[in-house]
Amino acid sequence: MSPSDKSKDARAKKGKKATGRSAAKAAAAKKSTKSAGGAAARAAKEAVAAAKAAKAATEPPLRGNRVRKRPGSVSTTSSKAKGKKRSLPPVLSKAPPVAMVIFGASGDLTARKILPALARLADRGVLDDGFTIIGVARTPWSDDEFRAHVAEATPEGGPKWKALTGRFKYITGEYDHPDTFAQLKDQLDEADRIDGTDGNRLYYLATIPSVFGLVAGALAKHGCAGPGSQGTFARLVIEKPFGRDLDSALELDDQIHASFDESQVYRIDHYMGKETVQNVLALRFANAIFEPIWNRRYVEQVQVTVAESLGVEHRGGFYETAGALRDIVQNHVMQVLALTLMESPTSTDADRIRDEKVKLLQAIDIPTPDEAVDKSVRGQYTAGVIDGEPVVGYRDEEDVAPDSQTETYLALRLRVENWRWAGVPIFVRTGKRLPARVTEVALTFRQVPFLLFDHKTSRDLRPNTLILRIQPDEGISLEFGAKVPGEKFHVRSVAMDFSYEEAFAGSEAADGYERLLHDAMVGDATLFIRSDEVRQAWRIVDPYLQAWSEPGGAMLFYPAGTWGPHMADLLVERSGDEWRNPEIDLEIAGGRLTELPQ
Ligand SMILES: NC(=O)c1ccc[n+]([C@@H]2O[C@H](COP(=O)([O-])OP(=O)(O)OC[C@H]3O[C@@H](n4cnc5c(N)ncnc54)[C@H](OP(=O)(O)O)[C@@H]3O)[C@@H](O)[C@H]2O)c1
Repeated sequence: MSPSDKSKDARAKKGKKATGRSAAKAAAAKKSTKSAGGAAARAAKEAVAAAKAAKAATEPPLRGNRVRKRPGSVSTTSSKAKGKKRSLPPVLSKAPPVAMVIFGASGDLTARKILPALARLADRGVLDDGFTIIGVARTPWSDDEFRAHVAEATPEGGPKWKALTGRFKYITGEYDHPDTFAQLKDQLDEADRIDGTDGNRLYYLATIPSVFGLVAGALAKHGCAGPGSQGTFARLVIEKPFGRDLDSALELDDQIHASFDESQVYRIDHYMGKETVQNVLALRFANAIFEPIWNRRYVEQVQVTVAESLGVEHRGGFYETAGALRDIVQNHVMQVLALTLMESPTSTDADRIRDEKVKLLQAIDIPTPDEAVDKSVRGQYTAGVIDGEPVVGYRDEEDVAPDSQTETYLALRLRVENWRWAGVPIFVRTGKRLPARVTEVALTFRQVPFLLFDHKTSRDLRPNTLILRIQPDEGISLEFGAKVPGEKFHVRSVAMDFSYEEAFAGSEAADGYERLLHDAMVGDATLFIRSDEVRQAWRIVDPYLQAWSEPGGAMLFYPAGTWGPHMADLLVERSGDEWRNPEIDLEIAGGRLTELPQ
């Protein structure tokens, strides 16, 4: 897209456009009351016990332990622990003074994610008094208009945030114009003198990817890219997508590295800021019981699902340039897979973790374009029904070409060729307008070598499956067989659940952007993507892009509200497996289904 893509008119209108959105309401924290004992406390305890007993008596035994809505799940939390506050809010360390420059200050991401996250960091006392923002974009705003925009985007901002916003500055300018950067240099010097930003800079590229290299080069040219002489820092946070394919990613890397050292570059993938993604590390490396079974001997297959029920909303134009492979698989899916399947790092040092992720990505088999066709299914949604409401097909969405060849659905069969995972199929699927919003990684374990129970009594028994639920309903489930209460010996699958919401009630988990912005300010690159990770992820997905760019590169169709094209089922069935159906699987766990779906 060229700088002239947007009309001045549109930008002027934007200046007046309402952008503020209420941040999600924090869950109400429970107040624990300390009891000094005595009659009142005993009476209260007895009342609680009586209420529990009455509730247990009215519920079927399997559900008596349930703590959450998920059917068939049993709590992982002892009843003793339930009443207690089991966690403290995670504490983020205080960030150093810094001038944050947002390129794309008038854009959607800045208003919806970056500013609200900064406001929360300020109100939690994480931002230093020497923090300020300089916004840079083309929309013709004065400093006051930018501040009004900030206020609109952060309606929940408290006094600490408001104390900072009055000093925020805005530069109206094109990124290909030297004046923009000359002004920026002056503003940064002024921020050091007046706001106490101490020479530290955090540049956030929240703008269109085609100008990433341009901005990095201009910063260097104006003396803004180097770390200062007295330990001050200059870091560059880069939004996704980093390139459109391997060649463009390599080219962009060269442009960035001509101005910034890799240690200054923070490529952001907001999935990495999610607690559940980070918890993969905790699950695997803080527990002894998983490591022995985390390999080809016990794991039969791995499925990664990133499903959305939404369509492209107002972002049809953007989506047309991306598609599911670039938008989800090259970044989010590769990151989640790497964390789930990599070897143990030797420490939590950013580079040790990233080294292991790269090794795992290097072990993922890269198909030829012909093989890629055979190992993938891509599709586009047609008109259908979501939540009982009719919705239009992708090609009828705003800003989408009527003959668009952009995939809104994708299923892949990957192989990891190393000693741990050789022979274990890794199935990946992602799509828009699917029946549910769910992101999960499911490891299905091998069946027992000999099943004692006959088909009639164990027809609802499924292989053990460990599900890492990334969103929504964040947590972990383990599905295993249990005897159904009653005289007959009947076994079926139930699910044992760990829920973040339940286990850490009262804690204030930082949202992805909050955590990542903080980490960039303090210089912790662990959750950011290193150059070699990005390149390897592109190497893996490039053959699919090449295969599909050929004339006739197969595009299949699926009605909105279904789980994708039928061919995607066949992709999995060829290995004798089937896709998990997150909705039906829950019902099986809850015992509402008496027959397994065929
Ligand atoms: N939005 C999201 O939810 C989301 C999620 C993940 C990643 N991202 C990534 O974040 C980045 C920004 O996305 P967005 O949705 O915020 O885009 P957007 O709404 O289109 O905003 C783009 C911003 O860049 C500015 N800009 C573009 N070209 C410019 C130029 N030549 N000179 C000066 N300013 C220029 C625009 O300024 P004017 O409008 O004032 O001209 C605007 O502030 C993209 O890389 C995107 O892939 C976005």
